[in-house]
Amino acid sequence: MIRTVETKPYDDQKPGTSGLRKKVPVFQQPNYVENFIQSVFDSLEGFQGKELVIGGDGRYFNREVVQIAIAMAAANGFGSVIVGRGGILSTPAASNIIRKYNAFGGLVLSASHNPGGPHEDFGIKYNIGNGGPAPEKITDAIFARTKAIASYKIADIDAIDIDRIGEFDAGGMKVKIIDPVADYAELMESLFDFDAIRANFKYGFRMAFDAMHAVTGPYAKEILELRLGAPKGTARNFKPLPDFGGHHPDPNLVHAKHLYDEMMGPDAPDFGAASDGDGDRNLIIGKGIFVTPSDSLAILAANAHLAPGYAKGLKGIARSMPTSGAADRVAEKLGIGMYETPTGWKFFGNLLDAGMATICGEESAGTGSDHVREKDGLWAVLLWLNILAIRGESAKQIVEEHWATYGRNYYSRHDYEEVETARANALMDALRGKLGSLPGTSVGDLKIAAADDFQYDDPVDGSVSKNQGIRVMFEGGSRVVFRLSGTGTSGATLRVYIERYEPKDGNLGLETQSALADLIAAAETLAGIHAHTGRNKPTVIT
Ligand code: G6P
Ligand code: ZN
Repeated sequence: MIRTVETKPYDDQKPGTSGLRKKVPVFQQPNYVENFIQSVFDSLEGFQGKELVIGGDGRYFNREVVQIAIAMAAANGFGSVIVGRGGILSTPAASNIIRKYNAFGGLVLSASHNPGGPHEDFGIKYNIGNGGPAPEKITDAIFARTKAIASYKIADIDAIDIDRIGEFDAGGMKVKIIDPVADYAELMESLFDFDAIRANFKYGFRMAFDAMHAVTGPYAKEILELRLGAPKGTARNFKPLPDFGGHHPDPNLVHAKHLYDEMMGPDAPDFGAASDGDGDRNLIIGKGIFVTPSDSLAILAANAHLAPGYAKGLKGIARSMPTSGAADRVAEKLGIGMYETPTGWKFFGNLLDAGMATICGEESAGTGSDHVREKDGLWAVLLWLNILAIRGESAKQIVEEHWATYGRNYYSRHDYEEVETARANALMDALRGKLGSLPGTSVGDLKIAAADDFQYDDPVDGSVSKNQGIRVMFEGGSRVVFRLSGTGTSGATLRVYIERYEPKDGNLGLETQSALADLIAAAETLAGIHAHTGRNKPTVIT
């Protein structure tokens, strides 16, 4: 029943910030999926007879890859697989299932917030037994294997009916099809004060949650409307579609502009939120105020004790390096550890496992905690709802009070997408080349205090990650960071992160882009963005 199929390596299967992401036609090349999955299995040890979790965000090609993964797991000796019904599992739900059922690991099928469809993106990511993305040691081994692979193993079985909950046999391996939502909803109920949130809805609190036709739809329907009693229609665009309705399932101010406009308008509900393709990102907009992900992290950390799951306080906070320093001030006040990691959720895994951090967040709209080992969009929304219900204030009041206590980190990210790779690399190389000479010099009125290429020394396992982004720090606490994205699928994306700290007695009510104008100009002077890329302005500003 087991076939060993000869194959040839592909040379482009290097996992990026978050697994292997490519256009669907790339994945549809002969043996492309099989090569990668076999390379994953070949890089792991000791899974014989153990359990593998398989699920994805429902995008185009998800169902086909689920079937291939089942047949290959059977051929490679897994004892059982758990699959979300319909091949669906949000990324945080998959992380929870791996942890809850002590699975060996999981295959998460998603390209996150990238568009889906026959000509759009797909992705495969391997998560380890703690429920989190595989660390670099494993992804490096997978990549090495993809370059040498000569054959893969697959069981000759009929397709499994993944739309029916139950247990099935796949060539001697057990396949368990489970409800993708139930375990996750139960976990959320254990962390948050559902009674308080329910009462808030009962007394007229209104919210809009946009699932963007992506995976969080069924989760939001069940949790917000059924368990918490929010009015029907609170969860919008809740039916997951293979092409996300032709939209970009990226909850930012460009792709969720309709929600932003509504929240700034006269008929805005009290609270607006959205999540991305695979359910790990979040967008938070209060009535009349957009909350930046960096501020959201800081505010959630400062108020987490209001939720039962965090009533005992936090062990520490972690953020990615380009994320603003707003959370650092909260950690300082709470007297707990603060950790600065490279971009990529996988870097939080060790800190969470070691009990050094409880809450983590990234500027890229990711927030989460030690309840799973992925960022978690709905978790962030529910923590906000919990805080709003207990404090009885509006999101705007809570944000403004936060600034008045800690000061405000004005923050923005400017992305230059689909830049020719060679030109983007040249820009970074040129910057890197002059780092040593920058400290002490000025750009306009801004004096450079320090400049480096961020390196992370993992305090848990001692591993070192170099070249994680160029930081130019100015006197007074402002900074500009330059990095190339690790998640794009065509060309290079230059990210410029701009941050300025305004103390609590300073001017807290400025418009962000104008508050950052001198730093934005300094970024251009320092990096020569126009000269290198030919671009006059960013593609996306968040
Ligand atoms: C994914 C990862 C995040 C990361 C984000 C942006 O969502 O899970 O950890 O922050 O991509 O990464 P990039 O390399 O594109 O800046
Ligand atoms: Zn995502």
